[in-house]
Amino acid sequence: MNKPEKLVAEALSEALTYPVEAFISREYAEAEPERLWSKVWQQAGRVEELKAVGDFITYNICHDSILIVRDTPDSLKAFHNVCPHRGRRLVGDNTGGGPVVVAQAKGSHSARGSQMKFGCNYHAWTFGIDGEAAYIPDREDWNGALDSVCTSLTPVQVDTWGGWIWINMDSEAGPLREWLEPIASLIDPFEFDKMRYRFRLWGIFDCNWKVALEAFLEPYHVQGTHPQLIKYGDFYSFSKALGRHGQTGFDSKEHREENTAVETSVHRAAGDGDPRITIAQMQQEYWDTIGASTSETLVTTAQRLPVDLPEGTPAAEVHKYWLDLAKKVDAERGVSWPDLSGEQIAAAGLALSVFPNMNFIPGPTFSLAYRVRPYGTDPDKCIFEAVALDRFPPGDEPETEWTYLEQDLDKWPLVIAQDISNMVEMQRGYKSRGFKGNLPNPWQERKVTNLHVQLAKYMGTGAPVPIT
Ligand code: FES
Ligand SMILES: [Fe+2]
Repeated sequence: MNKPEKLVAEALSEALTYPVEAFISREYAEAEPERLWSKVWQQAGRVEELKAVGDFITYNICHDSILIVRDTPDSLKAFHNVCPHRGRRLVGDNTGGGPVVVAQAKGSHSARGSQMKFGCNYHAWTFGIDGEAAYIPDREDWNGALDSVCTSLTPVQVDTWGGWIWINMDSEAGPLREWLEPIASLIDPFEFDKMRYRFRLWGIFDCNWKVALEAFLEPYHVQGTHPQLIKYGDFYSFSKALGRHGQTGFDSKEHREENTAVETSVHRAAGDGDPRITIAQMQQEYWDTIGASTSETLVTTAQRLPVDLPEGTPAAEVHKYWLDLAKKVDAERGVSWPDLSGEQIAAAGLALSVFPNMNFIPGPTFSLAYRVRPYGTDPDKCIFEAVALDRFPPGDEPETEWTYLEQDLDKWPLVIAQDISNMVEMQRGYKSRGFKGNLPNPWQERKVTNLHVQLAKYMGTGAPVPIT
């Protein structure tokens, strides 16, 4: 791999280009576990998945598997999912990349269960939820050479934010909170920890993980990929780096002042038509073709706008009426909204990306989040996930499971299927002899460019350079 010839300014205001290496090079993909994934904080699940002491899940990334356990009512522990005796993967039935072996043949998304001890199926070494060896058959044969360090599961850093569990394999890595800023401060007012899974979909796609992730990093593609949404107004957006992370928000071609509250996903004025009708239609269409990025309450209350309000009601008043109504309807069924100011909603923007592999759309009572991972170290495959979070009346939270969907377009919600339709074609196009390098939009696709600036810092190659 070549070293970057020239690093560019963080502002990313220049017209830049970056090569296809990060998407198709086998050497690059094989370097990712060591240079990238072993060093970064990664979202590994939701706290709600680990309710009782002994509850566990696994999170798999490339050839590593991490076992995450609730060890006390108030704390979690994470370990490398490998037996210290002779290296068998301790908890099996994982997909997550790597060769399929017998224990993985069921093709599950990940392992999940509840137990106070983890016994290895090979020679029966057994570990407590604190990671210490609790039983080693014929331990005396080692003549005292086995201490608690060499026989314990290898710890991994684990922390929580926003109701998500995060892990970092680098024991020297700084705190999660520091890593997530400024995203954490922007999103804290939304109280994501009070949301729960509504659905969680996953699939294995024939493209690099960056291709799949980037399909959701910018609304510049809406006119080409989702033409049915253009009737609700153009999706012109700003896109910017927030340190290692990124953000998009609706904008106008005059680049009018960012962060105006009416321009987020929920508040979008929905084009030039009668706002009562366009909001009602757009919400219904979102519900029917994405099934997320809004809430059922917002969709049903939006249908009342043309009935409840007179023609000619200004857009800002329509928005206020709608949101007040939705909040009231939610309160009646026991769902409270966070106390969000217009400025806080506007500051969060349309969508936020957390380096390296997560992107989410925030809303007052919902979120649509994507996470994409490599499949082993195959540059041409990835594990894609789309997750909807919602607020539910206490006690009414649904039990959800990972639902596997083939990459066939008719299996996914229409809008996501439209995004998927680009992915395999991108992976093919990147291998074309005729492709000269990416030409990202310097204003609307800066979030994508920033991903490559940040990746290059870890990978030592692939940094964007000015278009010459
Ligand atoms: S490899 Fe686990 S007990 Fe031997
Ligand atoms: Fe899209």
